[in-house]
Amino acid sequence: MESPVVRVGVIGGGFVGAALVQLLCDPTRSEALVDAATATVELVGVAVRDVAKPRPGIGLGLLTTDVDALIASDLDVLVEVAGGIEPARSYVESALKRGISVVTANKALMAESGTQLAQLAHEHGADLFYEAAVGGAIPILRALRSSLAGERITRVMGIVNGTTNYILTKMTTEGSDYGEALREAQALGYAEADPSADVEAFDAAAKVQILSTLAFGTRLGGEEIAREGITGVRIVDVDFAARMGYVIKLVGVAERVGETGISRRVHPAMIPVGHPLASVNGAMNAVFVEGVKSGPLMWLGQGAGGESTATAVLGDVLDAARNRISGRHDVPFTGDRSLHYVPASELSSPFYLSVDVLDRPGVLAEVASVFGRHDVSIQSMDQSGFGDEARLAFLTHEALSADVEATVKELIALESVESVGACIRVIDEGVT
Ligand code: NAP
Ligand code: HSE
Repeated sequence: MESPVVRVGVIGGGFVGAALVQLLCDPTRSEALVDAATATVELVGVAVRDVAKPRPGIGLGLLTTDVDALIASDLDVLVEVAGGIEPARSYVESALKRGISVVTANKALMAESGTQLAQLAHEHGADLFYEAAVGGAIPILRALRSSLAGERITRVMGIVNGTTNYILTKMTTEGSDYGEALREAQALGYAEADPSADVEAFDAAAKVQILSTLAFGTRLGGEEIAREGITGVRIVDVDFAARMGYVIKLVGVAERVGETGISRRVHPAMIPVGHPLASVNGAMNAVFVEGVKSGPLMWLGQGAGGESTATAVLGDVLDAARNRISGRHDVPFTGDRSLHYVPASELSSPFYLSVDVLDRPGVLAEVASVFGRHDVSIQSMDQSGFGDEARLAFLTHEALSADVEATVKELIALESVESVGACIRVIDEGVT
């Protein structure tokens, strides 16, 4: 018996789009795809901005710049791998209103408008899938949405941006220059079109927002995530961390605080070398989920790159196709309105602070007294001198963020302090 046909259109023929086309058109996989989709998946067209650009692997006949015509061409599934908020959102809305299921890798769009788009999909009997938006090839969203749907999750924590992890790894293992490592990440297809999305942690914050929605029922497009990128991380901090037995990673965290509080944040953190996240290197991503009954769970995999990301997009396309054939669609999650957001300033952890000072008698005592005045207890101190100046590196005991912020503010105002170069959270040993 001939299998039914599911018509798929793609917006975007860049790193992810081109890799997806190759997967969809691979003759050695065609039977497996029919089995998984319970249908023949027919690629109808690929919309790009410039059809003249060379795109090995995408037949010229498939390319178009007319996205509206593609959406109107009796599609069953639209794949959006163009990126950005507009016009991507308008295209997605237009498809959903026609009852076309949408698969997207666009975390920025989902973090901003995911809840409304999911509702729109539901109203029109369509699916909205976005597995590739977090962790590239790692199937973390499906795990949260299905396998852990009944579990009370207490924390989701991970390395969710491949570009920054690639840069920090290069700085740590090769002493590389920040700019050079960023350029390499861009050439490898890890980075977003605008590098500030990665290095200023907007990309990771969007992913934390998506993870938080599925883990805790917070709303997409809801309140801001506390966000700090890696542009302030210097090679001296990386070296100090190494000497003290730590590595610096950009971590994203969404966790319960008490019964109804949720903290969501992205920031560089010093992680002990023995911690499982410390050995997640290059563009790899890792996500820990801790549940009351499940205990700690971890996913590790290629978090960025066209080919690996395209596997997650393909999985969603096959799911959407199967749903199409069986006449069903996924029901969107409902938000938990009892939750409130806990600001990062109300959280405690040990901190690393690096302070550049004038090297003269009494300065260390003066600086240390500022810590004491704000109830920040010093665990250890390391001094390196250069000429008339010295760098004091402090590790504190657990301290309230607001107290550490007040300490930094007062330190900056001291005449003997040149600058406070770094103020980085330290994550305790183990996964607690
Ligand atoms: P990319 O290489 O920059 O490709 C974007 C593609 O979209 C290009 O082919 C571009 O056309 C096309 N495009 C952009 N605006 C368009 C418009 N208005 N109309 C028609 N086509 C348009 O980006 P990418 O790395 O593949 O990423 C795509 C999406 O996947 C983004 O949302 C990104 O966040 C997400 N993602 C990427 C990765 C990754 O590792 N790369 C991983 C996970 C998720 P032209 O080629 O003609 O310019
Ligand atoms: N720019 C993103 C990253 C791509 O570096 O992780 C994957 O979402």
